[in-house]
Amino acid sequence: MKFLITEGAGFIGCNIARRLVKEGHEVAVLDDMSIGREGNLKGLPASRVRVVKGDVRNTGIVKELTKGVDGVFHEAARSSALQVQAQPLPACYPCTDLPVVMKA
Ligand SMILES: NC(=O)c1ccc[n+]([C@@H]2O[C@H](COP(=O)([O-])OP(=O)(O)OC[C@H]3O[C@@H](n4cnc5c(N)ncnc54)[C@H](O)[C@@H]3O)[C@@H](O)[C@H]2O)c1
Repeated sequence: MKFLITEGAGFIGCNIARRLVKEGHEVAVLDDMSIGREGNLKGLPASRVRVVKGDVRNTGIVKELTKGVDGVFHEAARSSALQVQAQPLPACYPCTDLPVVMKA
């Protein structure tokens, strides 16, 4: 099966990616790399993992990456307390906007 993981280069996302690949699935990882690092996906086969650097609020990217997928793990978030304190509203957008983007 094929899955999209938003925040796939973050702590939870990279572990979801490892688990899915281990089970034989293909994954696309969407992460803006604001906190996540591609190195978190080190060792995973490029043939089954596509890493895309981008914002989950980008309708075009999300539309492309959700084509033909069997499921989406939506984990993208501003997890840094300092970032959230500094900019509370933008911190919420990754959590709230994806369903809107996916319907578009
Ligand atoms: N780690 C935990 O113990 C824990 C516990 C409960 C809930 N959560 C939730 O799980 C989610 C992920 O947590 P985590 O610990 O893996 O955090 P993390 O900081 O490791 O990962 C967050 C990732 O989201 C990416 N990101 C942020 N904004 C983005 C955007 N607009 N578009 C694309 N990517 C974006 C960052 O680059 C980063 O890789 C969060 O929603 C967090 O609140 C985590």
